[in-house]
Amino acid sequence: MGRERWPSRLLFIFAAVGSAAGLGNLWRFPYLAYEYGGGAFLIPYFLALLILGLPLLVLEFSVGQYFQRSAVGSWRKLKEWGGIFGWWALGAAFLILSYYAVVMAWSLRYFFASFTMAWSGGAESYFYQNVLELTPNIGVLGGIHWGLLACLTAVWALIYFSTFKGVKSVAQVVKVTMPLPIILILVLLVRALTLDGALTGILFYVKPVFSALLDPEIWIAAASQIFFTLSISMGIMIAYASYVKKNQDIAKDALWTAILNSLISIVAGFVVFGTLGFLAMQKSMAVADVVASGPGLAFVVFPEALSMMPVAWLFAALFFLVLLSLGIDSAFSILEGVLAAFKDRVQMSTAKLALIGSFVGLLCGIIYVTRAGLYFLDLIDHFLLNYGMIIFGIGQCLLVGWTSAGREVKDHLAAQSKWFPVKTWWWIIRLVAPVILVIILISFFIKELGAPYGGYPGWAIAIGWLFLFGTLVFGLIMNWWYGRGEEVAD
Ligand code: PHE
Repeated sequence: MGRERWPSRLLFIFAAVGSAAGLGNLWRFPYLAYEYGGGAFLIPYFLALLILGLPLLVLEFSVGQYFQRSAVGSWRKLKEWGGIFGWWALGAAFLILSYYAVVMAWSLRYFFASFTMAWSGGAESYFYQNVLELTPNIGVLGGIHWGLLACLTAVWALIYFSTFKGVKSVAQVVKVTMPLPIILILVLLVRALTLDGALTGILFYVKPVFSALLDPEIWIAAASQIFFTLSISMGIMIAYASYVKKNQDIAKDALWTAILNSLISIVAGFVVFGTLGFLAMQKSMAVADVVASGPGLAFVVFPEALSMMPVAWLFAALFFLVLLSLGIDSAFSILEGVLAAFKDRVQMSTAKLALIGSFVGLLCGIIYVTRAGLYFLDLIDHFLLNYGMIIFGIGQCLLVGWTSAGREVKDHLAAQSKWFPVKTWWWIIRLVAPVILVIILISFFIKELGAPYGGYPGWAIAIGWLFLFGTLVFGLIMNWWYGRGEEVAD
């Protein structure tokens, strides 16, 4: 039995773009751009893409393609203890998925609410009081919110049915979930650009503010956004590339993935900022003042703006459908990345593994559909994304850049992708990227010592660290287990 394969190269690129383009593009990217003063954010964003994002994506693609194994199997080929990092990253990715699915559950809830424009009485109170029923602070759990749990279950059912036949079902689903949101975003773009006041919003978005570049935080935010948006350093892209034939110019596929993904973000930015310009005009406010805090952008401010448009329900439904269809292929890419590691090691049907994975994922998500869920989501997200991704990024740069098996990956890449500047890339992987990532990691940590993240109490912060280091313990145990038996890869 040979390894599973993508039915075609195009579908591999579809799947990779589908994984990359997700909530990170339409929800996270615009709010970061907004928080960091609009146009100023684009400069560090593109620099981070060039220096960190693209080189690491090429690295993950070539590692998966060369070893023909999931992140765990591949990192173990580089160094046996690499498997610890592999499982650690997958464990973290899985926990990220458990709340990513919750944000999709909110989107599903909003999609249904669009038809009656349920939030037209007040978008903010609708989000916090009606949808989340948010408790006053993280110490008050408030019990499970059954409505959201139902939406979450529906989201997990979608994830399950996308992965239960492995690469085969993934390839079928991305035929729809990759192009659909792109088409819908273009519809929303036309709507946004023809709104009154759109231009002020757009100018806010594209006008660079060079002084903002002096703030180190903007660079850090840009770097972690690039990691998140390209789905890198979580083992996901390695798994996807492990189903690619060995003689494919995969650096080219990486380039396509990165370009398409960023295009989607940039266009999403035009949609969001055009609409914010319209909202600012309706409320006679400056664009810089219409949003109170970032993450609420997609669920509070954007819905509010939508409610002021003609045929509001239609555009609202479209917007949430875009969020859902963007998110779904990112979500199941994480599950597939985790399943790939198990598939390389245990003889069990993909359907069964996917079912177990989906069920465990649903269970892990329950904490986020309690009435204090938003606090936990924010807290865990901070620890897993900001620290986890950067640590795994450093780990894989060193594992590839400084081992003999890593050198083989480099030679393989050089042979497949003759046009690619492999020498420059090699030095980025060996030195430039790890140094930058270590600096980012240290500055995160220093900031952490200064003030507890988000003003949460000590026990909550401890839970955040527990999630990060708990997944490390998971990594240690799983790597030991993996090494005890035979691989069933290839
Ligand atoms: N790239 C996805 C997004 O932008 C999120 C993601 C992160 C998916 C990590 C897989 C792995 O929404």
